Amino acid sequence: MILVTGGAGYIGSHTCVELLNAGFDVTVFDNFCNSSPEALIRVEQITRKKLTLITGDCRDRGAMIKALKESQASAVIHFAGLKAVGESVENPTIYYDNNVVGTLRLIEAMQECQLKTLVFSSSATVYGDPVKLPLTEDHPLAPTNPYGRSKKMIEEMLCDLYQSDHSFKIAILRYFNPVGAHDSGLIGEDPRGIPNNLMPFVAQVAVGRQESLSVWGSDYPTPDGTGVRDYIHVVDLALGHLKALEALKIASEKRNSCLTINLGTGQGYSVLDVVRAYEKASKKNIPYRIAPRRPGDIASCYADPKRAHDVLGWQAKLGLDEMCANSWHWQSNNPTGYQQN
Ligand code: NAD
Ligand code: WQD
Repeated sequence: MILVTGGAGYIGSHTCVELLNAGFDVTVFDNFCNSSPEALIRVEQITRKKLTLITGDCRDRGAMIKALKESQASAVIHFAGLKAVGESVENPTIYYDNNVVGTLRLIEAMQECQLKTLVFSSSATVYGDPVKLPLTEDHPLAPTNPYGRSKKMIEEMLCDLYQSDHSFKIAILRYFNPVGAHDSGLIGEDPRGIPNNLMPFVAQVAVGRQESLSVWGSDYPTPDGTGVRDYIHVVDLALGHLKALEALKIASEKRNSCLTINLGTGQGYSVLDVVRAYEKASKKNIPYRIAPRRPGDIASCYADPKRAHDVLGWQAKLGLDEMCANSWHWQSNNPTGYQQN
């Protein structure tokens, strides 16, 4: 049994599908602060399997202990957290509380229950502005906002935990830019309010919920002047978690079993590359205008995915065209996300 915190969210729901398809039993622990229970109904519909849901907050240690005991989980995948960079600048305390305190309570509960296998959602945002590309895991960490700093603090907390007790098995996965959706079109990204991120915004332009895209900056030192990122299909990302669980299962106390691993494709695409690929996938025109740079944005960011390949035997298989096609399938079938109206 795998306990999945934040399992109703975007990446969590896709990971639940892959876990159930691979034969794992799954318990989701979520407070639905940024998701809908409908996502879990859809997960069951896709897999034709049942999962167990526990509604609760990771910051509630008692509830976490109860969930770990009731589920009899052998490992935890910890997605639960807040992720909006701008919101974290405006309201840092809720980010440190939800992300750092939430993870602290979870690991205290794991210690109490003698459960020692954990996969954690970190982010390429911990690197900050790259000094050298592609980003390797030993690149210096210099996050530029409270959200990124909350992820760095958690990484440090997990490494300290491992140093104090080598029977812990921990995988820290640094995601690049997750996009796309399950190819059923039944689950996908469903941001509340106006999307902050590029692909969900483009999807809403294509479906007519937004008028036009603002391209934030066309004077970056990149091939076409717009920002370059390493977009990764959410299903590839989900499969990376199953590979991490496998790697931790065979990890021994002799080998370092606190792994820090990039999950990216290694390939960078510009904003305009994404717009063109989305137009092709959706057969819609995506109107855009060039706008000033977004404060805090960097020119380019892409992964060196070698460690993921060497240590996990994982590499991304799906390209930009599939990311856009699957995003469009989800968006056009569910123009208002999980909320039907
Ligand atoms: P999401 O918001 O869709 O999912 C997060 C889930 O966690 C939601 O279901 C939410 O209700 C739940 N949650 C939040 N706080 C909770 C708490 N205190 N207790 C219980 N449940 C709680 O986000 P996502 O895109 O699926 O991201 C999952 C994880 O991956 C997050 O930790 C995020 O920081 C990290 N990450 C995301 C991205 C990205 O671009 N999507 C990139 C890198 C890292
Ligand atoms: C991508 C590119 C924008 C929107 C963020 C977080 C990061 C991680 C992933 C969680 C950039 C441009 C965007 C728009 C645009 N999340 N853009 N118009 O900023 O790389 O990463 O999500 O860990 O922490 O910072 O992703 O999708 O917001 O932007 O021109 O309306 O698209 O400037 O070049 P980003 P993004």
